[in-house]
Amino acid sequence: MSLTPVKRRWLLTRIVQGFTVTGLGFLTYPFLKSWIPAFSEDTSLDVSLEALAPGESRLVRWRGRNLFVQRRSREMLRSLEASELALKDPTSLDSSQPAFAANNFRSLRPEVFVTYSNCTHLGCEVSAVNKDGIGFKCPCHQSDYDLAGRVLVDAAAPTNLEIPHYQFVSGNIIRLELAEDSQV
Ligand code: FES
Repeated sequence: MSLTPVKRRWLLTRIVQGFTVTGLGFLTYPFLKSWIPAFSEDTSLDVSLEALAPGESRLVRWRGRNLFVQRRSREMLRSLEASELALKDPTSLDSSQPAFAANNFRSLRPEVFVTYSNCTHLGCEVSAVNKDGIGFKCPCHQSDYDLAGRVLVDAAAPTNLEIPHYQFVSGNIIRLELAEDSQV
């Protein structure tokens, strides 16, 4: 069967378009993969606390989000225990954390604090401040969080900072990992 020139041109155009779309898909896949957290294959990440002096924080990136890993100093722990700051959700009932962090320190061990760095208002990155009982501050609408990431009553943010699932794999290494019921 012979094709008319018009049909041949139409067919060639479709073949070229098909190759172009396929090529673009191959080219953009790695880029998209690096930007979309759901594409991430890193279901866990080990973080060393070795270089962290008491009071210091380290920012870690995992599955497209930033987290603070902080070694609390004795002063921070004392300040947290004696704090009289007015908190919106003091017992974290309305906030997101694993069961092991549903305590006053919001952590597995009091001396190490791990939290996502996104403000729970509109998701801006908070800063670690450690001043007058305030642990984290949001630059966007000035929400303050205490040293356990609990939001103060007059803040725009509705809930405490979100705590990820993690475990200690040795005295100085934590493993960030997906909770068992997480969607990968
Ligand atoms: S985004 Fe943090 S207070 Fe609005």
